[in-house]
Amino acid sequence: MERHTLLTDEVKQLVERWKDKEGNLIMILHEIQNHHGYVPRQVALDVSALLDIPLARIYEVLTFYNYFKLSAPGKHRISVCMGTACYLKGAPELIKEIKNILHIEEGQTTKDGNFQLNVVRCLGCCGLAPVMMIDDKVYGKVRKQDIMDILSSYVKE
Ligand code: FES
Repeated sequence: MERHTLLTDEVKQLVERWKDKEGNLIMILHEIQNHHGYVPRQVALDVSALLDIPLARIYEVLTFYNYFKLSAPGKHRISVCMGTACYLKGAPELIKEIKNILHIEEGQTTKDGNFQLNVVRCLGCCGLAPVMMIDDKVYGKVRKQDIMDILSSYVKE
């Protein structure tokens, strides 16, 4: 409840600042994304009401640009490379395994907020394909059967 009020105040201020400017919807969404790391649904609803823009139009914008995220960032960001080398060396299998284990889709965060799954382009170490990163750590020549161990090391205390 308190969070909702805070967000609404923040959105009101943003709308006030941008309402007469061109491209205001994008600018407001950008500021929200920068600040929170995603655009919460409540913000989309608030922006819709305050700017009198249909919610569907706001989601059109949010889903068109990769930059915008619709769910809160996870504590650990998993980035699986789907560049050509990694793709050919089995990256799709790694992604499938991660999805099965964590029960999330690309771009989503686990319910406990611990992991977020992202699919990215070449990470610049194709010789190690298939490659994934968790936060800043690079894992090379990853096999499907390694995934569980790798993920487990991020849930231990
Ligand atoms: S294609 Fe995956 S690191 Fe280059």
